[in-house]
Amino acid sequence: MSRILTGIQATGTPHLGNILGALLPGIELANQANNEAFFFIANLHSLTAIKDPEVISNNTYSVAAAWLAFGLDTNKNTFYRQSDLPEVCELMWHLNCFTPFPMLANAHSFKDKSETLADVNAGLFTYPVLMAADILLYDSDYVPVGKDQRQHLEMARDMATAFNHQYGDLLVVPEGKYDERVMIVPGTDGRKMSKSYNNFINIFLDEKPLKKQVMSIITDSLALEDPKDPDTCNVFGLYKLVAEANEVSEMRKKYQVGGFGYGHAKKALLEVLIDSYKTPRDEFNRWMNDKGALDEQLALGAEKARKVGTAALGRVRNALGY
Ligand code: ADP
Ligand code: TRP
Repeated sequence: MSRILTGIQATGTPHLGNILGALLPGIELANQANNEAFFFIANLHSLTAIKDPEVISNNTYSVAAAWLAFGLDTNKNTFYRQSDLPEVCELMWHLNCFTPFPMLANAHSFKDKSETLADVNAGLFTYPVLMAADILLYDSDYVPVGKDQRQHLEMARDMATAFNHQYGDLLVVPEGKYDERVMIVPGTDGRKMSKSYNNFINIFLDEKPLKKQVMSIITDSLALEDPKDPDTCNVFGLYKLVAEANEVSEMRKKYQVGGFGYGHAKKALLEVLIDSYKTPRDEFNRWMNDKGALDEQLALGAEKARKVGTAALGRVRNALGY
């Protein structure tokens, strides 16, 4: 059995890009018989950027609801809120004392924002140490993350190795698992779909607002009767990721022949989004309307996580001679 662990930032309701690029692949990993997944919502990390408690709390719930709506199995796996386990902050302190200053000064997450040092809080600076504590507290074997997190992963490995060098093999040195499939979901403007570009599609919305997002997809100005190139069209780019293979090849032909307008394509895309995500949409809304049930799920996850976390922290405390 391998333990896979990953943290999910609490940045808002997951959009179609997050769902296809991270959430569904994560659930696929968690479902594998020889894996046990620890997935958590990294709301402590969010505090480096978001200070509004309501925003952090809402984001946490909507991320949790999305993972549950797509069927993450919380019996087999452990799904929790980072802040429910303050043990991680203690381990972070111990790791801090094994982290050379230049290592952190070299982190992209800090360097990207270090132009005005007065705007950098210590939380942002030590972000990779908290991330290492997230990983090392739970004896994680594999950490599936995007390539942008590779440097943080390497730092976690360095901290574990330095610690083990001093005290013996107490911490599991984790391995990064970088998805090689480059699935980049395009947004409504053709750039990578991202919250920060405001070009996303939120499949959990009701028909009316969802339609508004689909209708906002940018197309060229070819007339209805003109033949069109599906491969340069933002509508088709999304349609091919969510429709069945036969529907995709049918639409491809319609584009090439002409007499098929972007309005038609958008209508077809909207229909697929409404139909194929009906169950997760209903489930998402059910969870969001019952925050108590969400809290309960996350509390159960925290309890399971705590068993593993306190054991690892116990070994560490013991070694440190407190
Ligand atoms: P955003 O850019 O909207 O802020 P994040 O950076 O929080 O999204 O990404 C969360 C996860 O979703 C990451 O694993 C990331 O690789 C994945 N992801 C985000 N946008 C896309 C996209 N457009 N296509 C595929 N995967 C994506
Ligand atoms: N830093 C990660 C991100 O931005 C989120 C994260 C926090 C994480 N702690 C983690 C990922 C531990 C993997 C393991 O996506």
